Parts: sequence; C-alpha cells; structure tokens
Amino acid sequence: MLRIELVEEYLTTRELGRNITYYPFTDSTNDDMWELLDQGGATGGHVVVTDEQRHGKGRQGRPWFSAAGLALPFSVLLLPDLRLKQLGLLSLAAGVAVVRALHESRVAVQLKWPNDIVAGELKVGGILTETRLVDEGPIAVQGIGLNVNELAEDLAPEISDTAVSARMLSGSEIERELLLARTLGHLENILDNEIEIITDEWMKSCAHIGYTVCLTVEGQEVKGKFTGVTEDGYGLIAADGETHTVMAGDIRWCN
Ligand code: BTN
Repeated sequence: MLRIELVEEYLTTRELGRNITYYPFTDSTNDDMWELLDQGGATGGHVVVTDEQRHGKGRQGRPWFSAAGLALPFSVLLLPDLRLKQLGLLSLAAGVAVVRALHESRVAVQLKWPNDIVAGELKVGGILTETRLVDEGPIAVQGIGLNVNELAEDLAPEISDTAVSARMLSGSEIERELLLARTLGHLENILDNEIEIITDEWMKSCAHIGYTVCLTVEGQEVKGKFTGVTEDGYGLIAADGETHTVMAGDIRWCN
C-alpha cells in the first residue's frame, strides 16, 4: 500500500502534492480530481493517487490498465499560468518530469510524441491531460500512469505485448512514494522555471527524432521524418517536401 506520509517526507515542492487525496481503489483519478474540484475540495497542486485504478482512462478514449499495488496512477490539478496555445507544453513537461524521476531510479526511458514514456517500442507510462476553460483561465488535470513494480505476469493481457515496467527494465523494485515525490518536484520546477527550455529537453529524450514515423491525421496516413516539436509542443513531420504540424495522434514506427 502506498504510504502517503512517506511521499510527504520526500516532497521538495512548494505547491504540488502539498494536498494529497489517497484512495485504496477508485475508477479514475482524473475523474476523482474533477469531482473534488467541483465540490470545492481541491486547489492548485492537489494530487489524487490510488493503489488500484479500476477504470483508468487513456488517450483517445482508450482504457488504461494499472496493476493493483504495483503501478502508480495519479492526477495533479494545475492552474497553469500559460497562454492557451501553450497548453500542449503541459504534457511535454510531465513527460520530461517522469523521465528525469525515472533516470534518478536508474531506469532508462525515452519519450514518444506526444507524451508516452517508452523503452524501445514498449510503453512504461502515459499521460492524459484534460483541460477546462473557466473565467480565470485554463484548469488542467494531468493524469500520469506508470508501470512501476510489475513483473511480466502482472501486466494485464491487453497490454502484455506492448508494455513494460520500470522494475522489468532496471531489475530492481522502485519505491513508488519516492518516484511520485520526485516526479512532482521536477514537474513543479519545470512549470515554475524551465518551461522555455522544455521543448529542447523533450527532444533530447525523444525516442524517434530523425526517424521515419507514421501517423494518421484526420483520417489520412502521413509518413515522414519526425523532425521535432514546435515551441507550443506540436509535432513536426517532414513528408513529400513539406512539413506537417500535428496536434494529436499516435505515432508508429514504420520503414
Ligand atoms: C495514455 O493513453 O497513454 C494516457 C494514460 C493516462 C493514464 C492515467 S493513470 C492516472 C490518470 N487517471 C486516469 O484515468 N488516467 C490517467
């Protein structure tokens, strides 16, 4: 079971994670956060974390599977001071925060646009950023799901061919409390001080920069070289003499 008092001991943040709601089990920490917000029970930096997420939501309406007591599914409420166009940077920022935190636990991971945490072609984690616009500006619930201490047999059959855990990569168990506190620390630092350099760091950690990738854009298949991201976090793909700026989709490696 996650020990929240230990997370609090490890925290170095000013705001992120200073209020944590823990559920032994729940459907989706992102949904919980919106509910807390609607009830007036959450302010900026609030974190919802669970040991067992039963109906996790992935990007593009897909389900997200988390092994009970082994994975780390959590959501952070952000009231970002960013221009609306820059909201795409939030996911990039979270991806970089996770990469930094996993590197500190000696787990070698990279990023796949827009915000998958990968090792080779296998997925270690994903990020679902949901936003709402209110009078005061944008509100974001950033949901982060990480495969942490699973062994191969713990992964749900639906993802056993496409996922891997931090433990499977490093050979050792990872303290989830420390991983959570470190991720929040990096995320806060990036949002407070490093947002301008986040695209550069994201590109350095990108697994497919300079490679030929495929992506379906508005029903059309684009195949080209992934050349980087714009200052607002959109992907750039060079194909047929032009550069496509892509805002969403799933990149696949292709030849
Ligand atoms: C993806 O499809 O790659 C994004 C997965 C995001 C999963 C996380 S787990 C915590 C939070 N709660 C959810 O229901 N989803 C996100």
